[in-house]
Amino acid sequence: MIKVMLSVLALVLVSLGVRSQEVPTDFLAADFHKERRNLVRGMMPPNSVVVLFANSERNRANDVDYIYHQDPDFYYLTGYREPNAVLVIFSEEQTDAQGNTFDEMLYVQERDARAEQWNGKRLGIEGAKEQLGFETVYNGGDFADFPVDLSSFDTVSFFDFQNDYRDKRGTADLFDLIKTFKIKANYPADFDATKQQLYKMITSTTIENSANVAQTLGRYLNNSPNLKNDVLLNDFVNTKDEGLRNEIKQQLLMIQEANNLDTSVISEIMATLRETKTQEELKLLKKAIEISAVGQIEVMKAMHPNMSETEIQGVHEFVFKKYGAEYEGYPSIVGGGHNGCILHYIENNKPKVGNDLVLMDLGAEYHGYTADVTRTIPANGQFTPEQKAIYDIVYNAQEAGIAASVVGAPFQAPGRVASAVVAQGLMDLGIISNEGEARTYFPHGTSHYLGLDVHDKGTYGPFKPNTVITVEPGIYIPEGSPCDEKWWGIAVRIEDDILITEEGPVNLSAMAPRTTAAIEAMMLQPSPLDDFVLPKLD
Ligand code: GLY
Ligand code: MN
Ligand code: MN
Repeated sequence: MIKVMLSVLALVLVSLGVRSQEVPTDFLAADFHKERRNLVRGMMPPNSVVVLFANSERNRANDVDYIYHQDPDFYYLTGYREPNAVLVIFSEEQTDAQGNTFDEMLYVQERDARAEQWNGKRLGIEGAKEQLGFETVYNGGDFADFPVDLSSFDTVSFFDFQNDYRDKRGTADLFDLIKTFKIKANYPADFDATKQQLYKMITSTTIENSANVAQTLGRYLNNSPNLKNDVLLNDFVNTKDEGLRNEIKQQLLMIQEANNLDTSVISEIMATLRETKTQEELKLLKKAIEISAVGQIEVMKAMHPNMSETEIQGVHEFVFKKYGAEYEGYPSIVGGGHNGCILHYIENNKPKVGNDLVLMDLGAEYHGYTADVTRTIPANGQFTPEQKAIYDIVYNAQEAGIAASVVGAPFQAPGRVASAVVAQGLMDLGIISNEGEARTYFPHGTSHYLGLDVHDKGTYGPFKPNTVITVEPGIYIPEGSPCDEKWWGIAVRIEDDILITEEGPVNLSAMAPRTTAAIEAMMLQPSPLDDFVLPKLD
């Protein structure tokens, strides 16, 4: 008997042991997500509710979907990585008809043995309670019985729908959940989130500032044929009469009063929260960045002119996987020669990179957090004088941009200094004759926030500590450019991920060589892939 009990115990322990090793254990903790929800609640207006939906599943072809990826806001606030879910956060505690109290709710995919056999495990209600720390959890099918009247709130905030979801089998997929929400929230068929936001611009401005707001609105209306038909917006933009502007403002206030649907409250809250990272987030983000830097190093060692763009991509991504990074944070960009001039070149199908520069912009995504690192290296290991001349301008621009990434500086600071260095450098080489022409060769921004999204959310206000941004100047000279042909086909971008701290900027991707000398030295190093020879196939 004892023997039987011991062997059962051993079996349980073994299975527990195997279980605990089955998945990584360094995800964000349930408490992180809970704290974030509490912060959201603290920033919500009184008597308001936030309703957020999981990302949609997207079809790739026939019965195959793209690999599912959770919406980053939803993930940030829940840790839930499955589709077909709803998160509801209330500004104040609610009570249902049975007397249960709650200030947040999560609707999840119902457990389903058959679906799980085919498509993987679901957390279900119990899993969401145990692993994610939610107290009030229902199956998605119960969303139809939502126990609170949405019309009783002054503000119902949500992200407007992209209309990129499909009605699937069953009654609790995203399509059904959103349909239910629209009915319960009295969502009008002609709801226009942009129009709402423009109305809000008017109602939240002072009459003294209304002329400036009218000017900004005018630019919006010019670019939006739909909004051009809105009489109130048009009148506000076209009148010079402050009295009329005030009248329109009052009318809009009444319209807003009668309508509790809102898309800006949650949007502003998420931008504020996600702009700065906690230490827990920084740990994962730094890991994603270091993995990506190692990818660049391994490719520098392995690179030779006979490699294809696809193969180079594969080496980076192999390194990502080797470290347990689940995804690439965005489609990998590997462009040899002229292909580097296409800013988001993702075909990556040139069979041989030859003696050109190769621009490689890749980021590992580790537990949700993505890196964004670019290196540009000569496929044969040595920069030509022309390549080096352009490279050094970009390098100096990046150095200036990184130095400008300090607490309190405007978000635009790195871009301003980097652009000035690029313009001066191109003028010195005779490639352009005045500063205004620099935009032709450096046509993108210098910085964006980095985090759960590669182009992460933030307020674009002055830099705060614990913000991570990219600094990524570039120069791209396509064939046929109005300059000496010797520059044609040179494309250089250098991109690093910079942590802004009270002590100054910290380059989190510094491990990957950045100067021409350091890159050339690294490219002389042997690579383990030198001996990785596969059989020839027809
Ligand atoms: N990899 C996209 C970007 O650099 O913004
Ligand atoms: Mn970037
Ligand atoms: Mn990039």
